Amino acid sequence: MQKENKITEGDINLTAARADWLATAVDQKTKALLEKDARYFLHQALSTPCLDVLSNSNNASIESISGKKYYDFHGNNVHQIGYSNPKLIENIIQQLQGLSFSPRRFTNEPAIHFAEKLASLTPGSLNRILLTPNGSSAVGIALKLARAVTKKFKVVSFWDSFHGASLDAISVGGESVFREFMEPLLSGIERIPPPVTYRGIFENDENKCLEYLEYVFAKDGNIGAFIAETIRNTDVQIPSKHFWKEARNLCNKYGVLLILDEIPIALGRTGKMFAFEHYDIEPDILCLGKGLGGGIFPQAAIITRDEYNVFGSISLGHYTHEKSPIGAIAGLTTIGFIEENNLLEKVQADAVYMESELRRLEEKFPLIGAVRGIGLLWGIELVKDRFTKEKAIEEAENVMYACLKSGLSFKVSAGNVIQLSPALTITREELNDALQILEESLSIVQNQI
Ligand SMILES: Cc1ncc(COP(=O)(O)O)c(C=O)c1O
Repeated sequence: MQKENKITEGDINLTAARADWLATAVDQKTKALLEKDARYFLHQALSTPCLDVLSNSNNASIESISGKKYYDFHGNNVHQIGYSNPKLIENIIQQLQGLSFSPRRFTNEPAIHFAEKLASLTPGSLNRILLTPNGSSAVGIALKLARAVTKKFKVVSFWDSFHGASLDAISVGGESVFREFMEPLLSGIERIPPPVTYRGIFENDENKCLEYLEYVFAKDGNIGAFIAETIRNTDVQIPSKHFWKEARNLCNKYGVLLILDEIPIALGRTGKMFAFEHYDIEPDILCLGKGLGGGIFPQAAIITRDEYNVFGSISLGHYTHEKSPIGAIAGLTTIGFIEENNLLEKVQADAVYMESELRRLEEKFPLIGAVRGIGLLWGIELVKDRFTKEKAIEEAENVMYACLKSGLSFKVSAGNVIQLSPALTITREELNDALQILEESLSIVQNQI
């Protein structure tokens, strides 16, 4: 196994490739602004110092101040309905002309309709909502609710997972880039290896992961929650139906609440409104966020069971913008847009196209060790050698910068996985165009090997 590398994300902003980008790919005005940005913002991995200065966004693309357009296949997972969605802008402007903020102790019609809409989308007894401004706090609320419901404080999560950047969220998350210097974290977190099929320690056998999960549940009577992404967004790991059905059964058997974090992948990304619908299971608590605010307003939520609505005397999520009428309008418009424009069917059709194109690239480039995906969420694992599966970290970064130069932005995850996550509204022509950029960039890097 490769030693844990600090570069768990290929687009870490301190590499030679980044320095080269700054020296060759941006103009003087941009460079001056980037320097100012880096002068005032606190530096951190994966953001400041930045690589370009944006001035515009539209549907599947972002545009820099120098007029350069990038297809944004990253988008921090907020752009399900496309950037600057006109209907959303119109509805937000209209709402701003009326009620723009709702202080606690009051409610408002948009928030009520939003909660009703969310409850109508989720199955059976999952119909209690708590709104919150961001995903990390949704995860925090879910962990608190699980403690209150089960009276047990321990949590099982997966190594390498990400559930947000706050202290409680990094306590259950597994990525070292978020944990360094932050300890002690929340106590009672049991991380287990994830059911990764390509290079995981369970060697392509999800049953071993399930056995491990049961082992931990059985050994420790104090576990109240199991938190996981239904489908892992970052490096695109897609468990089988069998895995999730059995994991759900184990939670039932040991009285553990299943918290599914679908913050980046709900709302059509996988071709269904929620990823758990692919698995015929239900979580006990569902976390939503990111694109829930339509890419304009920060909006997140938890949805849970009616029967857990028994903690009226404590505060579970006391956040200032809890019932934001703007966030609620953003959420309602986002869901309405997905439904009215049959985005789920569109994504399912796009998935077929993506799969055939990416399989073609897999055959063409030995650099590609695996392709996996669902809906409009795809991961391309780059390897130095298909047999040893050694991660091609530098190559992944080179592909990323070659793509950026030609106008395609995406995230590199786990050091070597190109993650493709475009706006769900992207046209077929744009998708094709972006994949051509990717193919040309892969060619350049493959030829340098
Ligand atoms: C799986 C997952 N959970 C939680 C979060 C945290 O959301 P936020 O950044 O809105 O706090 C993220 C953000 O990237 C995420 O990907």
